[in-house]
Amino acid sequence: MGSSVEQNILVTGGAGFIGTHTVVQLLKDGFKVSIIDNLDNSVIEAVDRVRELVGPDLSKKLDFNLGDLRNKGDIEKLFSKQRFDAVIHFAGLKAVGESVGNPRRYFDNNLVGTINLYETMAKYNCKTMVFSSSATVYGQPETIPCMEDFELKAMNPYGRTKLFLEEIARDIQRAEPEWRIVLLRYFNPVGAHESGSIGEDPKGIPNNLMPYIQQVAVGRLPELNVYGHDYPTKDGSAVRDYIHVMDLADGHIAALRKLFADPKIGCTAYNLGTGQGTSVLEMVAAFEKASGKKIPIKLCPRRSGDATAVYASTEKAEKELGWKAKYGVDEMCKDQWNWANNNPWGYQKKL
Ligand code: NAD
Ligand code: WQD
Repeated sequence: MGSSVEQNILVTGGAGFIGTHTVVQLLKDGFKVSIIDNLDNSVIEAVDRVRELVGPDLSKKLDFNLGDLRNKGDIEKLFSKQRFDAVIHFAGLKAVGESVGNPRRYFDNNLVGTINLYETMAKYNCKTMVFSSSATVYGQPETIPCMEDFELKAMNPYGRTKLFLEEIARDIQRAEPEWRIVLLRYFNPVGAHESGSIGEDPKGIPNNLMPYIQQVAVGRLPELNVYGHDYPTKDGSAVRDYIHVMDLADGHIAALRKLFADPKIGCTAYNLGTGQGTSVLEMVAAFEKASGKKIPIKLCPRRSGDATAVYASTEKAEKELGWKAKYGVDEMCKDQWNWANNNPWGYQKKL
């Protein structure tokens, strides 16, 4: 479905994992897109792949700007030359462990960057935003599924940046009611575009489960450490709500449409998950089935700070955004394997 008037969207962090997949869907849906990214956790090759994927015509509607949200001037440069209908704000640092060791880096990047963005948006009267929040704001939930009105708490500095930024968004919108802000709380984004040409490519040893499994499957890592086998779950391993990154990308488009259509939206949070809980061992089995590769595992103690089971209530997003995840874990693993098999070293040509 194309948009009737061509709307212009600024995508911060658009060279990253979720950003690239969302930019493909935005272009296919008829939006014009400008990316701002400092390539701190991404490479320009990812944007080149997006261009190849959408073809030369749609590629003309995409521009890439190397810039850092911590420098207001970099944002100002973009707003002074064109009008944006909305901003999708992905840019941020996201490694939980690193945030514990270096909280100042996280507060500087995630908080200062976002405040600069709000200031510039306000100056140019662009007051419509989709913000990347996270299920991390539920901490270790006392009951599941997680509902949007649960009490919020953060377990680490990264989580605190998301919690603070949610509160900042609510305060700004309360003070200036013309702002329209959707906070999207992602659960565990995995998978890749079905073409296998874009996907997640973390720098260094992966922190997250699926990139780790993927690197074991292609022989870059010897085995998977399974953190925790004594949880009170079906098989003793922890349970999460894995969501295909293409479903997530479509969730952003649903959020944009809601923002454009509903002047009374205010500042509203939505979970983006499938509502299905899958254990670590079930995920390993699904990936083995999709790839035909054996994933050797080592059962290890629990990772500190991990919750037993987290999954989303999807009702609010279904009802108000008209969005529901289409893919299950088999498709997630199939597409993630396709990406890994085509690009065992990610966006690097070779070692
Ligand atoms: P990513 O690291 O792949 O993408 C983030 C992008 O932002 C990168 O390209 C990075 O270079 C850029 N960036 C970071 N700081 C910047 C700055 N100051 N100025 C300009 N660019 C900057 O991460 P992702 O997985 O695509 O995540 C996107 C967003 O979603 C992040 O805000 C993250 O916290 C949030 N999120 C991610 C997950 C997940 O598991 N992937 C889950 C919940 C929420
Ligand atoms: C999933 C499960 C691990 C790696 C994190 C952030 C959260 C959000 C999503 C950004 C857990 C287990 C993992 C490994 C394992 N990100 N695991 N071996 O912890 O649910 O959420 O990413 O907002 O804020 O905390 O995701 O992929 O790290 O872990 O056994 O090598 O896999 O213990 O049970 P998590 P994850």
